[in-house]
Amino acid sequence: MGPSRCARTATCSGCGGASPPTVHTLLDRLLVAALIEGRSCERFRLLARATRGSALGGFYEDLYAAEARHYAFFTEIAGAIAPETQVAKRFRELARFEGELVAELPHGPRIH
Ligand SMILES: [Fe+2]
Repeated sequence: MGPSRCARTATCSGCGGASPPTVHTLLDRLLVAALIEGRSCERFRLLARATRGSALGGFYEDLYAAEARHYAFFTEIAGAIAPETQVAKRFRELARFEGELVAELPHGPRIH
């Protein structure tokens, strides 16, 4: 299974081939990864809440916590390579772009 359409579209815009990525390109890649992890985190949180008290509840709670750590990991690295205001601005732009892409997708089950 390849990357989702959202990740493919967002990460391929601005790719320049064999040359090293610019800070802008690297920032986009980190923030797209953060968005993907953040969405997984949201989905697992919903599943954890819906299954709380059952055998699956702890399983989804662990996945929710793991995805939250992954989200934090990528956003912390993004914050280490660019100013906070630039990171926040670009994150909002990419999230808006993600929303536009998702609005075009057919309804269906998906995790990542
Ligand atoms: Fe993850």
